[in-house]
Amino acid sequence: MTLPGPEPARLSARDRVIVALDVPDAEQALGLVERLDNQIYWFKIGLELYLFEGNRIIEKLRSLGHSVFLDLKLHDIPNTVAGAVRSASRAGAKMLTVHACGGPAMLSAAVEAAASVAHAPQLLAVTVLTSMDQSQLSAVGVPGSPADQVLILAQMGWRSGIRGFVSSAEEVAAMRHTFPAATLVIPGIRPAGAATDDQKRVATPAAAIAAGADYLVIGRPITQAPDPAAAAAAILAEIS
Ligand code: C5P
Repeated sequence: MTLPGPEPARLSARDRVIVALDVPDAEQALGLVERLDNQIYWFKIGLELYLFEGNRIIEKLRSLGHSVFLDLKLHDIPNTVAGAVRSASRAGAKMLTVHACGGPAMLSAAVEAAASVAHAPQLLAVTVLTSMDQSQLSAVGVPGSPADQVLILAQMGWRSGIRGFVSSAEEVAAMRHTFPAATLVIPGIRPAGAATDDQKRVATPAAAIAAGADYLVIGRPITQAPDPAAAAAAILAEIS
């Protein structure tokens, strides 16, 4: 099953911000959720938290009324990814990532697996990680620019039935132009003046939304702020 992209005009600022809970355990994750004081609707669970807590943390967040983006970045042979998509679908997440560079057979298998189960999450294909710049791409044997590679992977993903993509804000305008109906999810978001950390292709929240992003994934600028609720409020105000 593929879902249509959201209608951006209908998404409020609160619907657009996904906070990345990159912490080791449920206690820290739920502590952050509480500190954010119901300002945030979406949370992203990545490998650090999921490998320790499993589906319990998804169930807990859902019981608190939140939507969950399960960021497992699946990348394996088609049969294995199809099984992982079916298993992950049982957990109740609304979005799930696969790596576009797994190729068309893997992506088609993921799409078919999602179509075969009830309540499947929307599949998002990760194109080029926001931590990769030209030199990192060259090091793994990709001669083109990140912008070119994002479009190559997204076009291949679209042909395989994928309708949602993760890229950086640098490519989002071209992605929106090429895929008007796709769901575009953008990490590497940094408020003006914030540390970029390990991210290479970054933009401010307002710039990413203006360029066509549907959802922003934001971790450390909120989770490591001295006052996470104030940091979240400032970002929501910036994109309102
Ligand atoms: O702390 P920060 O805002 O950099 O966190 C970004 C989050 O988005 C991390 O959880 C990271 O795994 C995720 N992500 C990313 N780049 C991608 C896909 C996901 O940074 N291309």
